[in-house]
Amino acid sequence: MKGLFSAVVASAIAGAFAAPSPVENGPITARAVAAPNAACATPVTLSGNPFSGRSFYANKEYSKEVVAAAASMTDSALQAKASKVAQVGTFLWIDTRARISVIEDNLKDVPCDSIAQLVIYDLPGRDCAAKASNGELAAGDIATYKSEYIDPIVAIFKKYPNTAIALVIEPDSLPNLVTNKDLQTCKDSASGYREGVAYALKQLNLPNIAMYIDAGHGGWLGWNDNLKPGATELATVYKNAGSPKQVRGFSTNVAGWNQWDLSPGEFSKATDAQYNKAQNEKTYVSLFSPQLKTAGMPSQAIVDTGRNGVTGLRLEWGDWCNVKGAGFGVRPTSSTSDTLTDAFVWVKPGGESDGTSDSSATRYDSYCGKDDAYKPAPEAGTWNQDYFVALIQNAKPAF
Ligand code: BGC
Repeated sequence: MKGLFSAVVASAIAGAFAAPSPVENGPITARAVAAPNAACATPVTLSGNPFSGRSFYANKEYSKEVVAAAASMTDSALQAKASKVAQVGTFLWIDTRARISVIEDNLKDVPCDSIAQLVIYDLPGRDCAAKASNGELAAGDIATYKSEYIDPIVAIFKKYPNTAIALVIEPDSLPNLVTNKDLQTCKDSASGYREGVAYALKQLNLPNIAMYIDAGHGGWLGWNDNLKPGATELATVYKNAGSPKQVRGFSTNVAGWNQWDLSPGEFSKATDAQYNKAQNEKTYVSLFSPQLKTAGMPSQAIVDTGRNGVTGLRLEWGDWCNVKGAGFGVRPTSSTSDTLTDAFVWVKPGGESDGTSDSSATRYDSYCGKDDAYKPAPEAGTWNQDYFVALIQNAKPAF
């Protein structure tokens, strides 16, 4: 671990003494060279693409998991690749109140040239249309969500005004209210999701933060009949929050498997393909973004490319659990060649499970038992070493 970081710092310093390229004269790099690991000297105000010109901070929690995973490998070539994964900047999921305790240790070391990335994920009645990620708060417990989850997070963020932070807000929640609204569990969660997300947006609206509200993926809100209701759902919550300035748009493909621009698209031959023009995420962004804009919400996207390296693995588009044969995808970057998409990001930390394959577990979801799901798999969020190895071996581009 130490070795890894010092190698990175060493090359940054070496770069500083080489003939400076025009880019190296830019203000962010100049500050970083002066003190490579220091936060900015003055408060950060994010406007425009927050990822542009910044590195994606590799949080310590994922790095630790990956370094431990590498240490238990016997194949040195694989080990070397795993060490590279430890340097990738992924999102840090704050999926319980207890998890709030790791935030400061990560924020305090984010260099001025970088952006920290976190997922806000603890709504009451979480994951209402599935079981694998049911959370700690019962539907209806919005008071606890506000006072014991959002408020303490806001208090920590307020201590780090000089650090750039990107947030994904509550994956799957509002999309579930669009397409699974008839399920009793989603009916029970609906008002809490809307109130909780609005509260989060309002309270987290700090100058150094950029927020993206989750919008599922092309195979979810991308159906012709879902685009407008989806955009209306997100925009209504955004407006109820008072149209917070630091909301930048939406996230797609979080923990997902869809390709960015594969044409004609993985499920284009399916019998119902005529009802969905969003056959890849690029098209989904191009269709959803204008709808959001019309509905009155900022409409820039970030797209999770963490595990979409391999195509053609799913039996059905909706299969979401530990898809077998998957590989890491394009590394986080703000070079997307798409004006609507701020960045390709790694939201799901590859190697952490989507859900347990143990059919006797309380949170067992049958999707995790399907033929295209990798087994055995541990509880959602916990480490699956064999799956991680496969993600490396199947990575595209390769490590
Ligand atoms: C789990 C979370 C976990 C996240 C990232 C979700 O599916 O429910 O507990 O933090 O994945 O791995």
